[in-house]
Amino acid sequence: MTVVPTVTLKSGEKIPVIGLGTWLSKPGEVAQALKIALKNGYRHIDCAHAYMNQDEIGQVLEEVIAQGTVKREELFITSKIWNTFHSYEKTKEAVDIILQQLKLKYVDLLLIHWPMGFQEGGEIFPRTADGNHMHYSDADYLDTWKALEEAVQAGKVKTIGLSNFNSQQIQRVIDHSHIQPAMLQIESHPYFQQTKLINFCKEKGIEVTAYSPLGNMATPFRKEGQANLLEDPVILEIAKHHNKSPAQVIIHWSIQRGVIVIPKSTSEHRLKENFDVFDFELSKDEMAKMAGIDRNWRILDLTARDGDHPHFPFNIEF
Ligand SMILES: NC(=O)c1ccc[n+]([C@@H]2O[C@H](COP(=O)([O-])OP(=O)(O)OC[C@H]3O[C@@H](n4cnc5c(N)ncnc54)[C@H](OP(=O)(O)O)[C@@H]3O)[C@@H](O)[C@H]2O)c1
Repeated sequence: MTVVPTVTLKSGEKIPVIGLGTWLSKPGEVAQALKIALKNGYRHIDCAHAYMNQDEIGQVLEEVIAQGTVKREELFITSKIWNTFHSYEKTKEAVDIILQQLKLKYVDLLLIHWPMGFQEGGEIFPRTADGNHMHYSDADYLDTWKALEEAVQAGKVKTIGLSNFNSQQIQRVIDHSHIQPAMLQIESHPYFQQTKLINFCKEKGIEVTAYSPLGNMATPFRKEGQANLLEDPVILEIAKHHNKSPAQVIIHWSIQRGVIVIPKSTSEHRLKENFDVFDFELSKDEMAKMAGIDRNWRILDLTARDGDHPHFPFNIEF
């Protein structure tokens, strides 16, 4: 079986450089996808409370651990605190809900999903009457962070980190933390490489995970007619040269530039394809060509919905 390289985080934990994404993996499909993934060597699984499929993921984890097919310590399970659980008390509650759903005693990595807090105590998406915005909360993500630090001390979480935070917000957490963030998870793919933010993180000893690494063609946030990364001529040429698929080139490119990657699939064929990325290297020239196709194009752009939130992260350059 493929031996996947790992990266050692500030916490001392080792994270495999490729994991399985589970956003938009439907209940009823995600269990099957996870079983196939585990059978084919995936050990790092990216989950979130807001994906509303953690119960089903938890059932599979419980089953494989009980069967002894996979040992708990071989797995690297990530989850995320959702926006409606940002106050100190709610975050503590969310940690327990996540552990209960995933049927685990601890998670390996817990991230604050977004810096913006939404109205607590009700719907996961507390929409305004017109449906176009969310009701906000004034919870500060520093309170969320404090509760996460305590979850580490309580043994419920090994490593803590952030997702969708900008450099100023990351610095603010660093300046007010006892345990520093070890991970930033952000959208990153060849059309949105985020090199400045990634360099900022690396300077602080924070590792980076790329979400939507394939430019997620299925996300509801895409607009009709937008470019398909998997048909980019530069990527197609490199793929042809290495006898690999465009997705394999993109996944390998991310790993080669030091960014952990979590492609989502529920198809057996694509789950295998996305994992078969360790038998080739991109040349210096190919890496330069890949750097040249950046369009600074964010797909998951929530400006219209959440742009006026005081903690909205994407109003500054990086
Ligand atoms: N922190 C955050 O805010 C955040 C936001 C977004 C995503 N994420 C995480 O990152 C993960 C990955 O991102 P994503 O799901 O947005 O997008 P993605 O992994 O870039 O793309 C997923 C889409 O690509 C298809 N696909 C997968 N492998 C393929 C291949 N080899 N060739 C062609 N198409 C392929 C999948 O369809 P099939 O399933 O049919 O194969 C699916 O429609 C998520 O699942 C989630 O865990 C985190």
